[in-house]
Amino acid sequence: MSAESKQKIIGVALGVCIVCSILVSTAAVSLNAIQQRNKKLDKIKNILQAGNLMDKGSNFKEIYDKYIEGAIINLETGEELPKDEYPDGLTVEEFDIKKVANSPELGKSIPSSSDIAQIKRMPKYMSVYFVREEGEIKEIILPIYGKGLWSTMYGFIALGADLRTIEGFTFYEHGETPGLGGEVDNPSWKKSWQGKKAFGEDWNVKIEVLKGRVDPTSDKAKYQIDGLSGSTLTTRGVDNLVKFWLGNNGYSPFLERLREESNYDKI
Ligand SMILES: Cc1cc2nc3c(=O)[nH]c(=O)nc-3n(C[C@H](O)[C@H](O)[C@H](O)COP(=O)(O)O)c2cc1C
Repeated sequence: MSAESKQKIIGVALGVCIVCSILVSTAAVSLNAIQQRNKKLDKIKNILQAGNLMDKGSNFKEIYDKYIEGAIINLETGEELPKDEYPDGLTVEEFDIKKVANSPELGKSIPSSSDIAQIKRMPKYMSVYFVREEGEIKEIILPIYGKGLWSTMYGFIALGADLRTIEGFTFYEHGETPGLGGEVDNPSWKKSWQGKKAFGEDWNVKIEVLKGRVDPTSDKAKYQIDGLSGSTLTTRGVDNLVKFWLGNNGYSPFLERLREESNYDKI
């Protein structure tokens, strides 16, 4: 092969590389906005799913705007922050749990002795969602997350107006094995959470996900969920993360405040 044709081949190859990289980077930049929008929409969809609001219309954003009222709370004190006191950069709409948990100012590390959800860090503030129908608050939807077998699972738990009954349960992000731990997405398993009681009479967390099946004749059945078969580790992860988030290090101060505040007119 002559030196001239070698140069031509290299020139053409370089040209193709440059054109391809321009195309790929243009696509990445222009798709980023769409990806972010879809991610936001997916989160909204999951909030609606947890709140059993999917049948309220066909436009998720419209349902969200009509029925949901978001708030940011201080997890440690349980206080709802006034809108003009949200820490810098925090909004309900853009709330990104991972970013907030990892932020040196807005997140904190969890001592390993109390980190039953195995998440290492958590936000100091959290977005929560009140479901309002005909002026009355019907449910409160709380973000939850924790380690399964392969992944950190992110989802929501919805409590009814009595702050005790579970109305909805869903994960919107996880990497568990389809057919095994991935059965956390199984609609009938998610439905099995509905009507169960998260707290006992003394307001201690009573809900538990069993290794096996719930005995429907047991007094404890109202606090128990069937485990996922062949997926003991994911099941244990779900059990732990729910206990963590409903407990003292999670939403307990907030829920206690809601129960105790005599002038609280939302629930
Ligand atoms: C390829 C593969 C994927 C698995 N995925 C999961 C999973 O997502 N969640 C889980 O708990 N167990 C999973 N397991 C099973 C665990 O390794 C472990 O055996 C199981 O959790 C024990 O549950 P059991 O006591 O109900 O049998 C997987 C196993 C294999 C081989």
